[in-house]
Amino acid sequence: MKTLVIGTGGREHALALKLTQDGHEVHAAPGNPGMARVATLHPVDPMSGAEVAELAAALAADLVVVGPEAPLVAGVADAVRAVGVPVFGPSRAAARLEGSKAFSKEVMAAAGVPTAGSRTCATPREAAAALDEFGAPYVVKDDALAAGKGVVVTRDRDEALAHVELCLAQGSARVVVEEFLDGPEVSLFAVCDGARAHALQPAQDFKRIFDGGHGPNTGGMGSYSPLPWAQSDLAAVVLDTVVQPTLDEMARRGAPFVGCLYVGLALTARGPRVIEFNCRFGDPDIQPVLALLDSDLGELLHAAATGALGSAPVFRAGAAVTVVLASAGYPESSSKGDVVTGVEAAEAAGADVIHAGTALLDGELVTAGGRVLAVRATGSDVADARARAYAAADLISFEGMQRRSDIAAEPLGVVEGASVR
Ligand code: AMP
Ligand code: GLY
Repeated sequence: MKTLVIGTGGREHALALKLTQDGHEVHAAPGNPGMARVATLHPVDPMSGAEVAELAAALAADLVVVGPEAPLVAGVADAVRAVGVPVFGPSRAAARLEGSKAFSKEVMAAAGVPTAGSRTCATPREAAAALDEFGAPYVVKDDALAAGKGVVVTRDRDEALAHVELCLAQGSARVVVEEFLDGPEVSLFAVCDGARAHALQPAQDFKRIFDGGHGPNTGGMGSYSPLPWAQSDLAAVVLDTVVQPTLDEMARRGAPFVGCLYVGLALTARGPRVIEFNCRFGDPDIQPVLALLDSDLGELLHAAATGALGSAPVFRAGAAVTVVLASAGYPESSSKGDVVTGVEAAEAAGADVIHAGTALLDGELVTAGGRVLAVRATGSDVADARARAYAAADLISFEGMQRRSDIAAEPLGVVEGASVR
């Protein structure tokens, strides 16, 4: 198959790697220096539906995979579908499940999906009443996409109210105030064809910048899969209680969901509860999952894109761990242009080095973003994969490099939970 992957990050590199391993021809737009080794890159703006659709048609691609949420929420998948190319990624209307927190809560309520109780508020006064209704710890979410900065979880009522004011001042018409969910967080990815879905193996993402779950939230500092401590029927339970009812409700509303429904869950004492929906694969959470996927990824995503999901995907035994290497200043800022060394050595040690924020400057690999690289390794179990990932990561360095030393160290899964600031 001729495939086209849209995006520039680690998720897109990991998708391109797996598609190549499965024997597919891979094109990417715009891609990154790591993807250049497995794909033909095209300098196209991922946010422009017209440009992406034109490229897909010119290539006569069999499948387009749109990686990040921003182009999906902007309707890039609709533009590709309009020129008749199968695309894995929801329409603009279906991507509202991630694009608007209030919309996703409304759909969950209509579909009877277990999630945190919530109130959508348009004024600080309404929000204050909702904060007092639910009590501490307080959870306040910007209604709109906020690149991971939209959520505040705190015991401090004034801080919660300050976040309400900030969101409303920044132009959001609404904020969502929620009940606090207590329990380890799990990422479950459902590959959906509009009517049906298959779940991939669950993963866990380490969201905070520092060891022990301290410091601010990031896009994710590492991940692992599978979760040996989780109930073995977790994926099946979430498909039944969350994914299928959501697909049915979206289809009923005339916005069938085709693509990855990323279910962010808290495993609470009362059972799994949805923390959030995203409309794409998680990064880096999808990386270890893809490393273990035995089935052909291109065939799976093409089946979903054409409304023809077949048999469930199959996973290899063993485990995979991804350790993110971030640049100085992340997540508040990022340092660019620092020379990266040791990538070949890490690969020679048996790891995949996945590019997330790199560039080539005069032939040298340099940092170009907050999350720079992700080092991924597989092993016989989580501890083995973890040892291999860290041994390879030890070989890579750049000025100001930050990484956590405790990714996948706690197989009990209570590592991060829903930590309160
Ligand atoms: P979100 O952008 O909705 O994923 O939220 C970011 C992070 O905030 C999540 O990964 C959780 O750690 C935390 N969080 C969000 N909603 C809740 C909630 N209702 N209860 C506890 N923690 C939450
Ligand atoms: N790793 C979290 C996300 O992709 O949203």
